[in-house]
Amino acid sequence: MEIKSRIVIVSNRLPLILKKSEDGTIEVGKGAGGLVTAMAPVLKNRNGTWIGWPGFVQKEDIDDNMLQVIQSSASGYNVKPVMLNSDELKNYYEGFSNSILWPLFHDFTDKCIFLPEYWKSYQAINKKFALVVCRNTDDQDFIWVHDYQLILVGAQLRKMYKRNSIGFFLHIPFPPIDTFARCPWRFELLSAMLEYDILGFHTIQDKRNFIGCIKKIIQDVQIDKKAESNERVSELRLGNRKVRIGVFPISIDYNEFFLKAWDSKIYKRAKEMRSNASDTKILLGVDRLDYTKGIPEKLKAFQRFLTLFPKFHKKAHFIQIVAPSRREITAYADLKLKIEQLVGEINGIFGTNDWLPVQYMFRTLDRDELISLYRTCEIAFIAPLKDGMNLIAKEYCACNIDEKGVLILSEFAGAAQQFYQDAILVNPHDTEGMAKAIYRAFNMPLEEKNQRMRNLRENVKTKDVFWWLNSFLTAAIEKDLSNFPQADEYFPFKMV
Ligand code: G6P
Repeated sequence: MEIKSRIVIVSNRLPLILKKSEDGTIEVGKGAGGLVTAMAPVLKNRNGTWIGWPGFVQKEDIDDNMLQVIQSSASGYNVKPVMLNSDELKNYYEGFSNSILWPLFHDFTDKCIFLPEYWKSYQAINKKFALVVCRNTDDQDFIWVHDYQLILVGAQLRKMYKRNSIGFFLHIPFPPIDTFARCPWRFELLSAMLEYDILGFHTIQDKRNFIGCIKKIIQDVQIDKKAESNERVSELRLGNRKVRIGVFPISIDYNEFFLKAWDSKIYKRAKEMRSNASDTKILLGVDRLDYTKGIPEKLKAFQRFLTLFPKFHKKAHFIQIVAPSRREITAYADLKLKIEQLVGEINGIFGTNDWLPVQYMFRTLDRDELISLYRTCEIAFIAPLKDGMNLIAKEYCACNIDEKGVLILSEFAGAAQQFYQDAILVNPHDTEGMAKAIYRAFNMPLEEKNQRMRNLRENVKTKDVFWWLNSFLTAAIEKDLSNFPQADEYFPFKMV
């Protein structure tokens, strides 16, 4: 394979969402989520194909006209939709993907519902995706499968005699053996992963966890000692086959955010927001509705902060944006109620007629609104209980052009492996510690803020999404793997 081969991306979602409005017309919107944010600029650079599910519409709704609309919303690449009916969505998407793999890989085993019908559907849908890939690829194409929803696609393609170079990138964490071993289909999932030529993870910990699982669950794999150190890209041997595994922390299109942040409209908007709250400092949280994101934990920490430091009453403001997500799943619907109850409680206890401590918005913001908020808010508050990477942290830094912002970041976000020196790291389970971190961020001297933010921005700028893409593709073809620098490593739990 050459690095310039055509790329075929396969992901559960396409980078666009089709929605059927009440009058029956279909609207095309831009997709949300980390994967889409990262991959869209990448495919714009190459004449590739993107295969995925276009959102909640029926097969009958997709006619030639519709296909054209879908196609025209993607500039510079082809789009092939894979349609899913409501049963498939229930068992494959809400079921196996989001009620087994998502909680399992994020260490929320109590939320896993190990139903055999979910597994059956997951296998069938992965095969369905593989068939579409088969029909739309030439032998030279590099096939790149993304994320936990589609782990079996590579193995299905091998069964269809596809000999292409096939890569897989996991956008969420990979769990340790004690957690992974609970899955009734642990052997099938791991064996399928070994059918890829290259596997990418965000952090060295994810790579080590994967190796740990392979060692215990799969026999006949040769693993070098070095693979368990912080070697960025390693090779496992299975008989006469080799599988590469590497660490590639995903990122954003830094320039896109940076340039947008300079936009005069954004500046005006940010200034307006500021003038409405000239006397207060704003803490910003932006998360998808998800129990992994630590939203209740942040609210409790903010409540504790207000209790511990009354001088900040009327001076501090917490804007928490929650983007709707997976609401058909009970755990998500329950979380929404919990968040709303906490917001009400805090505002009820501390609010006055001229100060609402928490401003909560349950909707997806458009990019301009989001960037204006990034520019306006003094502190980004990102405290997931577990997160593959967290691109909001990177977006906030890229947009912080006056370098006065502070990033409070969970130790359990993949991004902490890169930002541990310049963010204020927190343990989201430690309410008191988080309250004190908010205090520290509010009181940080300007010079220190400048220095830390400059370093963070430099990091995002040099390791942007194109760097991520090139590292992954180079690792797929490079002969000498020792050319890769060692992976970043930070062990969060030591005393500082
Ligand atoms: C995470 C996953 C993505 C997923 C996104 C949104 O970022 O890694 O694969 O697309 O969440 O979730 P959804 O279930 O709406 O696709």
